[in-house]
Amino acid sequence: MKFIPIEASQVTLTQLMLPSYSNFSGKIHGGFILNLMDQVAFSCASRHSGHYSVTASVNKVDFLHPIEVGELVTLKSSVNYTGRTSMVVGVRVESENIKTGEVKHCNSSYFTMVAKDEENNNVPVPGLLLDTEESVRRYVRSIYRQAQAKERNKSFQKENFILKDHLDELKNHNAKVML
Ligand SMILES: CC(C)(COP(=O)(O)OP(=O)(O)OC[C@H]1O[C@@H](n2cnc3c(N)ncnc32)[C@H](O)[C@@H]1OP(=O)(O)O)[C@@H](O)C(=O)NCCC(=O)NCCS
Repeated sequence: MKFIPIEASQVTLTQLMLPSYSNFSGKIHGGFILNLMDQVAFSCASRHSGHYSVTASVNKVDFLHPIEVGELVTLKSSVNYTGRTSMVVGVRVESENIKTGEVKHCNSSYFTMVAKDEENNNVPVPGLLLDTEESVRRYVRSIYRQAQAKERNKSFQKENFILKDHLDELKNHNAKVML
């Protein structure tokens, strides 16, 4: 079994936000940032595994602050978890106002990437060498997040969903049930 330190595959990307990346209100388009996040997650996972990887899943992304044209955006990525063929890559996005030096945390997310060989088969990846308390915390957090996601998916599968258990909940929501 091979175990690789986290630092060996970390990827950082810094990019100037151009006017062409903005939306109708003059802020940077969320989809443009998601594209960059996927690119760094891909690079990080591929560097760790030594294979090109595909995105299997993206954990929710909360956009905490808008990003302005002219800001420098930095994306930092690290492998947080390694399974058999999958890796969870944490991506943190910060923007910097070049004139004031103010740095904002814009969002963080977790990408599950799966390593592929030349024939597009899933391929086993090296493990992660956990040499700090923080790296152990992140690894364990990924295990819990995966378990929670599985549980959530299970309870909302069509065959497990019991309609009458949920109808009352909807009374306080902005929807009208007309079955
Ligand atoms: C995601 C994908 C690789 C899963 O492969 P698979 O052979 O169907 O499924 P497996 O059950 O063998 O899963 C392989 C690994 O991916 C993980 N995985 C699969 N689906 C997942 C999901 N939705 N979320 C998190 N992890 C997932 C599994 O847990 C497993 O991890 P492990 O090997 O570390 O234990 C495959 O469905 C695929 O290639 N999807 C398309 C990916 C793609 O094209 N992405 C870009 C979209 S434009």
